[in-house]
Amino acid sequence: MRHLVKESTEPYAVGVVDVFPWDKFSLGHRLPFGAQWYTLPPNATSKQDCHPEVELSIVVHGTASVEASGQITDVGTGEVFLLDSGEAHVIHNRSGNASLLVFTTFWMPPEDSPDSGTAGGEEAEAAMAGETRT
Ligand code: NI
Repeated sequence: MRHLVKESTEPYAVGVVDVFPWDKFSLGHRLPFGAQWYTLPPNATSKQDCHPEVELSIVVHGTASVEASGQITDVGTGEVFLLDSGEAHVIHNRSGNASLLVFTTFWMPPEDSPDSGTAGGEEAEAAMAGETRT
């Protein structure tokens, strides 16, 4: 068992966002995804981000107001948001006094994912949603 602690990473700033990358844990060879924590101070907005990786994030504390596809959605503590490959996104912390902490994972979608238009997509989608198909 590994205990992975944000404070043992080497953080860097992207605008007002502080990123706590997992690089230092040297897990790239055994995990099929990248991961990091990031924080946003009160009343702050991230730069727009857009990348080919799918991004799955858990709000650890605070509320992330996630702007994507022309909508802003409030994602509360303990809740999760999923951004699709190529889906531009901006994260707002609209709280006046609480900081926002998010844990995020990201990976390249499989070549045979539904987006690529090849067969087997529906099954893969159901598997990702945790459904059992009969
Ligand atoms: Ni992103």
